[in-house]
Amino acid sequence: MNEITIGTTLQVYNGIDELPLDIQNLMNAAVEARDNAYAPYSKFNVGAALLLDNDEVVIGSNQENASYPSGLCAERTAVYYAGAKYPNAKILKIAISASSRNQVTDKPIPPCGACRQAIAEYEIKQKQHVEIYFMGAKGKVIRSESLANLLPLLFDNSVL
Ligand code: THU
Repeated sequence: MNEITIGTTLQVYNGIDELPLDIQNLMNAAVEARDNAYAPYSKFNVGAALLLDNDEVVIGSNQENASYPSGLCAERTAVYYAGAKYPNAKILKIAISASSRNQVTDKPIPPCGACRQAIAEYEIKQKQHVEIYFMGAKGKVIRSESLANLLPLLFDNSVL
């Protein structure tokens, strides 16, 4: 029996103000999207903003449904829209902000597993890292220099 150890290194910023200016702008777009989320059931708003290599910014927010599983997370709303509208563009950076309407969300909220898998598809397809920044409603922001860092042992199409 052998063991493998999987590790990753993430950067932690103390707040939006500490981010590079382009990321501050991207995070502000995510916050605006978050505040427009349709989340009447969970009361948990999430916004995502993508910077593409054609300089376009594509946003998404979570869209819920009375039939709960029919809803979609902010991140997938955004990446699928980007894939539909700009099929040849690469996703360079993603900013994510989440805010509960029941409590103060003061810690960084990472994308869920399903969204990580969805973003991984694009990272692999475009052969270029997707840089990810995520936060709550306030406080620290975490940066991952690629999606793969957030999803070790990801499932990819090489086995299909
Ligand atoms: N949600 C997202 O939009 N992104 C995530 O990565 C995690 C969860 C949404 C889905 C649902 O509308 C609400 O947050 C509560 O789970």
